[in-house]
Order: sequence, then structure tokens, then C-alpha cells
Amino acid sequence: MKTHSVVGSLRSLCFYAVFISAMLAFGGSPVWAAPKGSPWGKNYFPNIELVDQDGKTVHFYDDLIKDKVVAINFIYTHCGDSCPAETANLRQVYKLLADRMGKDIFFYSISIDPKHDTPKVLKEYAERFKVGSGWRFLTGRETDTTLLRKSLGLFRDGVEASKLGEHNTSFMVGNESTGQWIKRSSFDEPKVLASLLGRSLGHAKSGRKANLASYASAEKLPKMGRGEDIFRSRCDSCHSLGNEDGLGPGLQGVTQRRDKAWLARWIKTPDKLLAEKDPIATDFYNRYNKILMPNLRLSDSDVEALINYMEATSKNP
Ligand code: HEC
Repeated sequence: MKTHSVVGSLRSLCFYAVFISAMLAFGGSPVWAAPKGSPWGKNYFPNIELVDQDGKTVHFYDDLIKDKVVAINFIYTHCGDSCPAETANLRQVYKLLADRMGKDIFFYSISIDPKHDTPKVLKEYAERFKVGSGWRFLTGRETDTTLLRKSLGLFRDGVEASKLGEHNTSFMVGNESTGQWIKRSSFDEPKVLASLLGRSLGHAKSGRKANLASYASAEKLPKMGRGEDIFRSRCDSCHSLGNEDGLGPGLQGVTQRRDKAWLARWIKTPDKLLAEKDPIATDFYNRYNKILMPNLRLSDSDVEALINYMEATSKNP
């Protein structure tokens, strides 16, 4: 697909990433079956058929969530708005849970654009984000995934309705066997999400009541200026302020390297610059694995605060 058409369609396509992370009961048979009377069991969730990035067919209830702790979100792989930022943020969670991923914790991202997101496309997407074991990307029939989104409380009325400002960046984490389900934002602090998945929900395994107050006990972030605050919450899942590349280029010295007006436009509307075939943007896009720098709908004052912050930091590494 051509770059500009991808970018054009991204806007409308974005954001239903269903992201399920699942924690399996390991070691022996699960003794903690769903509590009697839990409404969120086998009869609640549709056991729809899905195909993963390796072409393997699975069933939602039986193979993905039964007796597991799960977190779920919906994606469009060629989404240029918030999806890449969501995936990047969840990738931070994934990295924090590294030794558990694929063992007792599993992530599932389910596409709501089956026509475009074939298993092959999903595989490429996973490779671009450099995630593998324990994180499955799935696709299924649209009627089925719609049903699933509804049952998970993550349905927004059609892709059209999810345009500007209506991004559904929520995902579900839950433990099927205890019937606990919690809606979270993919932009939550990765450490909090990792602790929720790795600890709070996991405790249910040992029969202890899950501690859902993880937010309160989460490590407090130091007081930050506005630019730093935005950078840490929206940018640093892809960028460092040093030389090292993340999913995007290292940003050390970027305010000296680039024209300020260009920089401001790029941060505000990278999709537009790509659609216009801006030469710097196009070159970057091709070099960075065709991961789209997301349009995060920042205001002019946000962008200014960010640029000031990047300038101050890179002078003073
Ligand atoms: C999903 C990952 C992702 C997120 C989140 C992200 N970026 Fe990027 N960024 C990229 C990629 C990838 C590129 C390279 C261009 C491309 O492929 O579109 C890039 C390029 C850039 C560049 C150009 C670097 C240069 O040398 O000119 C700047 C500046 C930048 N990003 C700033 C930001 C800021 C500020 C934020 C937060 C508001 C942000 N990015 C959020 C992925 C991301």
C-alpha cells in the first residue's frame, strides 16, 4: 500500500486494539475454578474463532482466557493515531514482565480490520514492534470480534465514530477464573500495569484476594514540568533523549538539528508531513521499520512545552 493512502486511512481506522494479556495457572491443575455464580464465565464470553499471526486457529474462551488472567485490547495495524503509541506503551509493560511472558502471562491484540490485517500483516506488525513470545496478534470475522468487543465493554459504535477525540484506548485486564475484570487505559504508567498483571491479579492464583489498590501503592513519579510530563507519558515509550534508538530515533540534540517550525509541525501532525511526502519524514519512516510516529493530538502549547523540555534536556544530557 502506498504511504499516503495508508496515512490517509489511518485516521479513520485507528484504535480498537484489543489487547489481552493472560496469566496462566502454572504447575498442576487449576484448583481455583471460576467462583460459583460468577456471571463472567463460559456462558458470558463468546467462544469465537480467531487466527493468530502464525496462522493458528484458536477459540477465545477455551484457548485464550479460560483459567487465565487476561488483558484485552483491539487494534488496527495501519493506524496512525493513538494505536502505535498504545502498542508502544504496552510493549513497555511487556518488557517489564519479560520473564513471565509466554509462561504465565500472555498478551493478545485483536484486530478489528480483518480485511487488511491478515495473519501475515499481523506477523509483520509484531516484528516491527519487536515483540514475540507471549504476545499474540489475532484476527477473526468482523461480526465475531464486534460481539467480543461488546462483551468486553470495549465497543464503540463503528470505526467512523471512533475518529478524532473518540479513541478507545482502553483495554481489559482480568482473571477469568476469579471473575475479576478491570478496564484500564493503555496510557497508564507501565509499571502500574505490569504490577496489576504480574502481581495483583496473579495473587488470585494462590487464593488471596487480589489487591486492586495498586494505583495507590504505585511508585509516585516526581513532580515534573509540563513538557517532561507529556514526554514521559506520551513519547518515551518510543524515544530516548539520548543517542540510543527505541522504536523511534534517539532525540538527543534534535532541537539543534532541526528547524523549530518543522519540529513543531512534525510533533503535532506527523501524519500530515508523511502524507505530503516531506523528505525528512519519509526518510525516517522508511528507516524506522515503517512504524508511524503517532499524531497524538497535542495542542500548540503542549508542543511548545515539549520542545522547550527537549532543548533543555539535550543541552544538559
Ligand atoms: C509509537 C512510537 C512513537 C511515539 C509514541 C512517538 N514517536 Fe516520535 N517518532 C517515532 C518514529 C518511528 C519516528 C521516525 C519517523 C517515522 O517512522 O514516522 C519518530 C520521529 C520523531 C522525531 C524526528 C526525529 C528527528 O531526528 O528529526 C521527533 C522530533 C519525534 N519523533 C518526537 C516525538 C515526541 C515529542 C513524541 C511525544 C509527543 C513522540 N515522538 C512520540 C515513533 C514514535
